[in-house]
Amino acid sequence: MSALNVEEIRRDFPILSAVGETGRPVIYLDNAASTQRPRQVIEAMDRVYETCYANVHRSGHGFSAQTTALYEASREAARKLIGAKSSSEIIFTSGTTAGINLVARSWGDANLKAGDEILLSVMEHHSNIVPWQQLAARRGAVIRWIPVTDEFELDLAATPELLSERTKIMAVTAVSNVLGTINPVRLLVEMAHKVGARILIDAAQCIPHEETNVQDWGADFVAFSGHKMLGPSGIGILYGREELLEAMPPFLGGGSMIRSVTLEGFTPAHLPAKFEAGTPPIAAAIGLAPAIEYLQQVGLSQVFAHEQMLALRAHELLKEIEGVRIFGPSPERKAGTVSFTMEGVHSQDIAVLLDRISGIAVREGHHCAMPLHTRFGISSSCRASVYLYNTLEEVEQLATAVKKARLMLL
Ligand SMILES: Cc1ncc(COP(=O)(O)O)c(C=O)c1O
Repeated sequence: MSALNVEEIRRDFPILSAVGETGRPVIYLDNAASTQRPRQVIEAMDRVYETCYANVHRSGHGFSAQTTALYEASREAARKLIGAKSSSEIIFTSGTTAGINLVARSWGDANLKAGDEILLSVMEHHSNIVPWQQLAARRGAVIRWIPVTDEFELDLAATPELLSERTKIMAVTAVSNVLGTINPVRLLVEMAHKVGARILIDAAQCIPHEETNVQDWGADFVAFSGHKMLGPSGIGILYGREELLEAMPPFLGGGSMIRSVTLEGFTPAHLPAKFEAGTPPIAAAIGLAPAIEYLQQVGLSQVFAHEQMLALRAHELLKEIEGVRIFGPSPERKAGTVSFTMEGVHSQDIAVLLDRISGIAVREGHHCAMPLHTRFGISSSCRASVYLYNTLEEVEQLATAVKKARLMLL
């Protein structure tokens, strides 16, 4: 039994009763790609546009002051959510991808030289691979890879050997967006710090689903996205330890990120403005605070338990279907993401039938994790990912629909 009142939660999400192409409300199981948002978030954004919208941190008039206060309140909400020490450590970005690119560009270019090493894992999202490949190419650095075991976990036994004084940064995901594997972040942080390396945690699939404290983790950088946690798209957070951010050069140049500009040059603004050049996605940033508040009111530990219960049911039902192979550890050791293939059937065909016939939205493809799919000898999978508003009945309907799809396709 779930501790969540899912029925009541669902009433806050207008889209969950919107009728899809099948003439019924869509069963939305694509939350790892992007979640839906409650009316509290939608209304907060509308309210800004209708009552006080202006640019932030620029003009002296009342609208600007009101909008700036809301914008900064959102930063403070994010700070509290992840337990950061100071709001200077909370940089608004456009999402996880932008946060990781910021670190790779700013910290990476300033700190890596030829022969230095970057340690990634085979289960990373492309957002936590490509920026480091680009950095490695710019600086002549070498990328090393933590393998993934046959049990769908990081090979922690192999990790110490991959770390040395040449390792300058480790970048790993807290939770795999394909396997649902929950990685031991604190242990990874310890391993990286032992050799003097920095560590970035891709928390895109973690912060929306479980209680997180970046100071307990001890991580140097943490990136996540608003749209995966009931918030608006176009807004994300990069957390960085203050002393590291202080020492880093600005990434993008422009308005807002300077203290002064002369014909000869510029001096950067203090944190966090130093990394927030240009007009930000103002309404999206403001919409993040009610999303955070919503999750905190429901309780992230309850959200996590609810998702695990749904994942457990999905595993039980899907593994009974002939030819279905689930990619991920057993449900009690993973988050609410269930990726699977069906022997003899292309993932795209399953996903299309789930959508057109049963009105179930899942994602198919490589989920921006091609190296991980290659590791397991597949090119694509179907991924069902749950959130706080999903029900056991929806998971059961998924299993029924997968069975039906199998009969139609084989
Ligand atoms: C683990 C992980 N990292 C990074 C990203 C990229 O997030 P965004 O597209 O919001 O920048 C995603 C999104 O799917 C993800 O699941």
